[in-house]
Amino acid sequence: MSEPARPGARPARRDTAADPASQGARPDAARMVLGIETSCDDTSVAVLGEGTRLLAHRIAAQDVHRLYGGVVPELASRAHLELLPGLIAEAIAAAGIAPADLTAIAVTRAPGLVGSLVVGVAFAKAYGLALGIPVVGVNHIEAHLHAATLEHGPAPFPALALVVSGGHTELVEVRAVGEYRWLGSTRDDAAGEAFDKVAKLLGLGFPGGPAIESRAAAGRADAYDFPRPMLDSPDLDFSFSGLKTAVALALAPLGEPPFDERRAADVAASFQAAVLDCLTAKTLRALDATGARALTLGGGVACNRALRERLAAGCAARGVTLRVPSPRLCADNAAMIAQLGAWQLARGAIADPELDVTASLEESGLGV
Ligand code: KG4
Ligand code: ZN
Repeated sequence: MSEPARPGARPARRDTAADPASQGARPDAARMVLGIETSCDDTSVAVLGEGTRLLAHRIAAQDVHRLYGGVVPELASRAHLELLPGLIAEAIAAAGIAPADLTAIAVTRAPGLVGSLVVGVAFAKAYGLALGIPVVGVNHIEAHLHAATLEHGPAPFPALALVVSGGHTELVEVRAVGEYRWLGSTRDDAAGEAFDKVAKLLGLGFPGGPAIESRAAAGRADAYDFPRPMLDSPDLDFSFSGLKTAVALALAPLGEPPFDERRAADVAASFQAAVLDCLTAKTLRALDATGARALTLGGGVACNRALRERLAAGCAARGVTLRVPSPRLCADNAAMIAQLGAWQLARGAIADPELDVTASLEESGLGV
């Protein structure tokens, strides 16, 4: 049952988990959950026992997109379809169970590439029907907010979550599971998207984040005075598209890549410093504003060691616990989907016969 909307421009939201008193609820459905994640270009499946024990986890990164320097939606959908059956069989075998031991399926239903989401949801529905078990839809961003719990245990609330990936830059106050206040997000490009675009300008390939990070380690962060967009704005939003343009303008007189190695390292280091200044400043400001007891990171950009170090220092100075998932659980993965699905089932969620996909975060029922 949903709560009445709260007053204010950015109200707290609740997830769509059904009330435990719902007719037909099967509390034991959370016992052995198969998670399926296909929202972008990673095909991932997981088997989670008792909501906490990760018995098997497979992530297949789709290499085909490297050829094109970015994710090609049609190719992603096709690859999900080809990869899912084998990955699921593999995960079930690795978990040491039989398909009949599964008690439910949790699948990403939003947000993401619509064709990719459709493949995962259609597959989950068909498999759930064949096994006679419920299928619940999970919000991908909500799952990122809680991914750290798989390794760190339950978060102290209120917590702050920073989700930074190729598609999202979200700063969220987590008051409880299912109770969120959106504090900020990007007005244009996501942080990971900026890393990918700048890597392309430097001729470093896709995905760009790890390549920029390794070049940045050998460069001077003060070599270029790139802008820190929205750093001084009173809100907690971000903007990275102008920063990418500033890098393009700095590189324009130099012609086409490959560039001199030292030059590329200096650009990478100066760009990374600008992104991290923005992410760190607003995240620490949000910690101070909310009095959060923990900071949780999620999304591929959270693999960036310099970002982790800067946030670790800020958290230590404030006595705040930093909860960073290991790289596998930062990036897109089915373990976090299975976990959130298991929580929804334990709270009484039942199979949704109308389960459908939604591409945007706003229309998914979360976000600003
Ligand atoms: O969460 P993710 O695996 O997929 C989605 O975008 O949903 O995140 C991928 C993004 C890419 O933009 C990639 O360049 C970025 O995360 N990324 C990094 C690093 N590793 C991955 N960005 C900065 N530093 C990294 N070490
Ligand atoms: Zn993601």
